[in-house]
Order: sequence, then structure tokens, then C-alpha cells
Amino acid sequence: MKEVQVLDKKFRELIPEEEIDRRIAEIAMQINSDYAGREVVFLGILNGAFLFAAGLFKKITVRARISFVKLASYEGTSSSGSIKELIGWNEDISGKEVVIIEDIVDTGNTLERIIGELLIRKASGVRIATLLLKPDSYTKDIPVDYVGFRIPNDFIVGYGLDYSGFGRNLPSLYILSK
Ligand code: IMP
Ligand code: MG
Repeated sequence: MKEVQVLDKKFRELIPEEEIDRRIAEIAMQINSDYAGREVVFLGILNGAFLFAAGLFKKITVRARISFVKLASYEGTSSSGSIKELIGWNEDISGKEVVIIEDIVDTGNTLERIIGELLIRKASGVRIATLLLKPDSYTKDIPVDYVGFRIPNDFIVGYGLDYSGFGRNLPSLYILSK
């Protein structure tokens, strides 16, 4: 069993690099077929999705652009605590077909927040591609269109996902050892 240490925690390999690559190629094929003859704006969510976005985008053959946004924690003065603001918009997406690229959908709060912004900016269509989905934790009704892997409700690192900022460079996906 392949094990790695990230900071104070041990993780074991869950999905090897080759399997991730294979699955990403399948998702790209699906997207190429679904959007045949159309133009797509991919929107990667930083930081976690940068590797998945790169792997996926290389395999896209329809006319496409890619842009990235980031959720910045803003410490509000109100009692409601931290508010997350989406920063880095530089793409006019009004009337465009948008595919959001996420590393992982957990509760779906992040996704809901981003989709809200895309509707305000009048995207004509929004779909979601995520490398990982935690079905036991997902509480929203929003359909997740392209899912790499459905995984148990445990903590994952690697392939862009981090534990306190570290572990993003691991080429495979690892799960917290218990
Ligand atoms: P959500 O808003 O609850 O869906 O959480 C989404 C965000 O939480 C992801 O974009 C990740 O940044 C982070 N996250 C959730 N689960 C994990 C995990 O297992 N490992 C690393 N980051 C995670
Ligand atoms: Mg993320």
C-alpha cells in the first residue's frame, strides 16, 4: 500500500495517476460530444482545480476558452463571520455556455455560490465538471453533470487538493489513513 506523509498526517493511495488520467480523458470525450459545434468557456476554481483543469482542457477539441476565479475569504465585521468573495473575473460570460471546473464537491456550498454569480452574469448555460464528489455530504439539488469519481466522506489530498496548503503536487489521489 502506498502511503505518504503530509504535515502531521498519513494518507494512503486511493486513485492512482493512470486511473485519473483515463477518467479525465473519458470526461473530455463526453464534453466534446455534448458541446459539438458549440463554443465553451471553462471556468476553473482556484486553487484546487488547477491540475484537473489542465488535464481536462488539453483534451478538449471544441472551440473553447479557459479562465480562472478564486474564492477569497473576506473576514466580515458582522457576526456572520467570513464571507467568501469570488475574485479574478476577466471574462465576459454573458450569453456563453460555461463549464465550471472544480476539484471536489463536498457540501455544494461553493458550487451554489459560483452558479449564483454565473446567473447574475447571464451565462446562457452552466454545467459542472468535478474531479471528485462526496455524495454523502452533498446537500444541494443542483445536478453535477460530469463527475470523475464518487468518493466516501473522508479527507483527500493530491492532484491539486491540499491539506493546509500542502500535498497538491502529489500526482495520485490519497485518502486520510485512520
Ligand atoms: P463545499 O463548498 O463544501 O462543496 O467544499 C468545497 C471545497 O472544500 C473544495 O473546493 C475544497 O477546496 C474543499 N474540500 C472539501 N473536501 C475536501 C477534501 O477532502 N480535501 C481537500 N479539500 C476539500
Ligand atoms: Mg477548491
